[in-house]
Amino acid sequence: MVREWDPRTASSVEIASLLDTLNAVLATDLPQDPPWRESSLREYLSEVMPGERRISWVAQDEPAGDGTPGRILGQVQVLLLGGIGVLEVLVHPSMRRSGLGRTLVKLAARRIRDEGFGSIGVEVVGDTPAVAFYESLGFTRDYVETRSVLDLGAVGWPALAEMATGVGAGYHLEFCPGGPPDDLIEAYARAKAEVRDVDDGELRPSSYDPERLRDSLDTLHRRGMKPYIVLAIHEQSGEVAGLTEVVVPAQHPTRADQYDTIVVQDHRGYGIDRAIKARMLLELRSAEPELAEVQTWNAQANEAMLKVNAELGYRPDRDWCEYGVDVAELVHRLDAQH
Ligand SMILES: CC(C)(COP(=O)(O)OP(=O)(O)OC[C@H]1O[C@@H](n2cnc3c(N)ncnc32)[C@H](O)[C@@H]1OP(=O)(O)O)[C@@H](O)C(=O)NCCC(=O)NCCS
Repeated sequence: MVREWDPRTASSVEIASLLDTLNAVLATDLPQDPPWRESSLREYLSEVMPGERRISWVAQDEPAGDGTPGRILGQVQVLLLGGIGVLEVLVHPSMRRSGLGRTLVKLAARRIRDEGFGSIGVEVVGDTPAVAFYESLGFTRDYVETRSVLDLGAVGWPALAEMATGVGAGYHLEFCPGGPPDDLIEAYARAKAEVRDVDDGELRPSSYDPERLRDSLDTLHRRGMKPYIVLAIHEQSGEVAGLTEVVVPAQHPTRADQYDTIVVQDHRGYGIDRAIKARMLLELRSAEPELAEVQTWNAQANEAMLKVNAELGYRPDRDWCEYGVDVAELVHRLDAQH
C-alpha cells in the first residue's frame, strides 16, 4: 500500500523501518558510505526552513495481525521551496524494477502540480540506477559536481598544521562551533552574498541575508546537524574575508559534510582557502572524535578549489548531478505510460 506519511507523527517502528530501507539502498548503491543511524532521524525528516514544506509518501507492507506496522519499502518526499519541488525517492533494492519508483514519483508530481509549482529538481548520484530511472522519466541533467572524500586517517597532520598558519599578514582565523557569533552574522552574510550564483547549483541554496542565515542555522540544529565554521577575519576592516562550513550530522557522525567555502574576491591570493580548511580539520579532530571522513562537492570547473582539496588529501569519488523536469510534462508522461 502507498500512502501519505508524516514523519512527525509516525511510530518509531516506522522510522526504524525507513532507516533499514535507507541503509539497504546505501549498501547497494553507495557501499563506501557509512550507514545512517536513528539519532535525530525523525527531526531530519520533519524539520524545514520557514516558508518551506515537505510532503512524503511511503510504500508499506500491510500491518501484521498484531497491529505492528508493515515494513516501509519505498519512500518519496518533496520539499517545496521557492518555485521548485525538490524530489527524493528511495526504493528498497529487493523491490526494484517493479514500477514502484515510478508510482511514487507520479504521486509526488501530481501534488507538486496541484500546489502550483512549475518544475521539479532532484539530486542524482552518478553510477547508480537513479540515472537511468530519472532519464526514463524525461528528466534532463542541469548541473554536475564531483563529490570528493577525505579520509582523516590518511591526513598528514604536521603538514596540515603548517597550512593552517600559512595565511597572509593582516588576517586571523576564528573557529566557531555551532555557527558564526551573532556580532559577525551581518559580515558573514555579506561574504556569502558576494559570491552568490558563482558555480552554485539550484538545489542547495545558500543563505545570503542575516535573517535567512539565522533561520538556516536554526534549521540545521533542529535537524540534528551540527555546523562548524572557520572564519578568516580581515583585521583592518573587521570584514569576513573567508569562511568554510562543515556540518556533522547526528545521522552519520563519522562522515561530515563540507558546505560552503568562500574567499571574498578582494582577499584572494593570501592562502586563505587552504588555511581555513586546514584549521577546520585540525579543530574537528578534537571536537568530533568519532569523525573519520569529510565529503565535499565541487563544480568541475572550480579548478582552484579542487587543487587545494587535492593538497589536503581529498579523493574524487562520484559525479553528483542535478536533474530537472517540467512538472506538467512529467505528469503528462506518467499518465500516458499507465
Ligand atoms: C532510482 C529508484 C528509485 C528506481 O526505483 P524502481 O522502483 O526500481 O524504479 P521503476 O521500477 O519504477 O523503474 C522505472 C523505469 O526506470 C528505469 N530504470 C530503473 N532502474 C533502472 C536500472 N537499474 N537500469 C536501467 N533502467 C532503470 C527503467 O526504464 C524502468 O522502467 P522498466 O523497468 O519498465 O524498464 C531506485 O533504484 C532507488 O531507490 N535508488 C536509490 C535512489 C537514491 O536516491 N539514493 C540515494 C542514495 S544513493
